[in-house]
Amino acid sequence: MKRLVPERMINVYFDTPAVVIDYQKLLYNIQDMATYAAEHNFALRPHVKAHRLPQIAKLQIEHGATGFTCAKISEAAMLLAHQHNDFLLAHQLAGPIKMKKLNQLLEQADVIIGCDSVEGASLLQQLATERAQTINIALEVDSGLHRCGTQPGSETLELAIAIRRQCPNLRIKGLFTHAGQAYAATSREQLREIAKIEAHSVVDTAALLTANGFSIDLISVGSTPTAQFSHLVPGVNEIRPGNYVFYDAIQVGLGVVPQERCALTVVATVISRPAADRVVIDTGSKVLGLDKGAHGISLVRGFGILLGWPHLSLERLSEEHGVIIKTADGPLPEIGQQIAIIPNHACPVLYRADLVHVTGLNEETVWPSAMRGSR
Ligand SMILES: Cc1ncc(COP(=O)(O)O)c(C=O)c1O
Repeated sequence: MKRLVPERMINVYFDTPAVVIDYQKLLYNIQDMATYAAEHNFALRPHVKAHRLPQIAKLQIEHGATGFTCAKISEAAMLLAHQHNDFLLAHQLAGPIKMKKLNQLLEQADVIIGCDSVEGASLLQQLATERAQTINIALEVDSGLHRCGTQPGSETLELAIAIRRQCPNLRIKGLFTHAGQAYAATSREQLREIAKIEAHSVVDTAALLTANGFSIDLISVGSTPTAQFSHLVPGVNEIRPGNYVFYDAIQVGLGVVPQERCALTVVATVISRPAADRVVIDTGSKVLGLDKGAHGISLVRGFGILLGWPHLSLERLSEEHGVIIKTADGPLPEIGQQIAIIPNHACPVLYRADLVHVTGLNEETVWPSAMRGSR
């Protein structure tokens, strides 16, 4: 991907802080992952939490996505309002309010619901009884993140047997796992090994369940850093990356992609030059977040990559200020100059934004947030 202007040049002067998506890079990332999935015969079920935007969901479907992964019922409801209706809720659901919302969703959508306990399954069984229908579930396997999920092998088999015995209206469609521990990897080799562990956790457990009379359709893995290695263990049939539509400084730090692939930036304006080695921008933690990697330490310095300013680092954030210091010789930007920053973690940046600017299309485009809030 060639650039015609130096990295630090920004063609548009934004009201800042501005969240900006480079459409051509977004499209490239979507196509690239779709090609990988098609080459290996994987269903591609991207995680919508990365963008929560119907415009991007549409592009993903146009490029071969078979459905969506959601963490929230509200994400599925947003997609449903835009004519998508195939979801894996890769999250454990508990409590009467969630069951009521799920009930509404089941009216109109094909949903597979994540489950990792007999208690959780019983709640779903109760709903299935009330609805007089079968509910599809996928068992979550813990492939090393140690978040939700049963251990691969006999622990997952025991859960499956208990559900088969106690929950006649639940159909176990398959298994899914998310190797989020990949975000703490320090080398590409380590990423590859984590990806293999991730895949083995569901492939081997699926074989065990099949040997015990279960019919397993879905063998699903998913994280952006491990996605590219999903074909190394035969048997996986679905991948669920989310962040790949944008990538970000954490992915660059992990060596997943070069920074040229990052499709989302935050543009900030320099508002102060209080010292010879320091400038301050009008963008802080409310926009960029304090994220250095949810499951490990980001290998990038500071709170993002300052495009075209390799001798500067965004060292400190308060809510509405970012403090940039010199780490090597070179000029400082002027007051009023704008800087594009690849954030450490793109997904929450978009989550907080009320709108995004889209560049690389013929006309100036703004995509308003399609949903706010976390429920
Ligand atoms: C269950 C599940 N699947 C898939 C993903 C997508 O991972 P990534 O954002 O690394 O692409 C996540 C991310 O949090 C997840 O929790």
